[in-house]
Amino acid sequence: MRLVLLGAPGSGKGTQAARLKSELDVPHISTGDLLRAAVAAGTPLGQKAKAVMDAGQLVSDDIMLGMLEERLSQDDARNGFILDGYPRNLAQVEALNGLLERIEQPLDAVVKLEVPAEEIVGRCEIRFKAQGRADDNPDVVRKRLGVYAEQTAPVADWYAERGTLKVVDGVGPLDEVSQRILAALGSARVPADS
Ligand code: AP5
Repeated sequence: MRLVLLGAPGSGKGTQAARLKSELDVPHISTGDLLRAAVAAGTPLGQKAKAVMDAGQLVSDDIMLGMLEERLSQDDARNGFILDGYPRNLAQVEALNGLLERIEQPLDAVVKLEVPAEEIVGRCEIRFKAQGRADDNPDVVRKRLGVYAEQTAPVADWYAERGTLKVVDGVGPLDEVSQRILAALGSARVPADS
């Protein structure tokens, strides 16, 4: 299964991908986690990305594509993946299509988690208090939601226009949301030409 999980910041992509990876027997690839690992390791890329992430903006498309390409070339991604956090703008859709074509790994499904903004702000506030993730600061969350509306919502539209997007209600107990995603995957298939 090669799955893209879309959704606003805090919609539960990471939470659900972590739950579904064993069910689907594929790795969870989160571009946010890859970046946070680079920041924690203090690599030159991580140092460059930190300020951008803390401001709620997007890291450059070139960096993200290189990072993704490297991750998808690892053995565990040969039989599929759950991609969380990528693509995040239309240029990344194009880059992903090109990359997956080159490695002959077409997508099987694209699922978007739908969660109202007020619920998202609440979730991020709880996590900010519990974990202190810099970009969960309420001001930055509002910026991230703005970036999502401007740059990432068109990604969902792109897949929807091609009839390949499944929209799932992301509000409710974690297990219920997981079950909704699995039910959506029962019928979600990306045609070979998209
Ligand atoms: P990234 O890590 O991808 O963050 P995000 O998508 O903006 O948001 P989250 O990870 O916060 O949300 P999520 O949907 O995974 O929700 P989660 O499961 O964590 O990116 C961070 C930054 O890196 C970006 O801003 C950007 O700077 C950079 N970046 C990453 N990818 C990039 C790319 N492709 N291009 C350029 N830049 C990129 O859940 C959130 C909280 O809600 C958790 O506390 C969770 O416990 C809780 N929760 C989850 N589900 C539920 C539920 N059903 N009910 C109640 N609470 C819930």
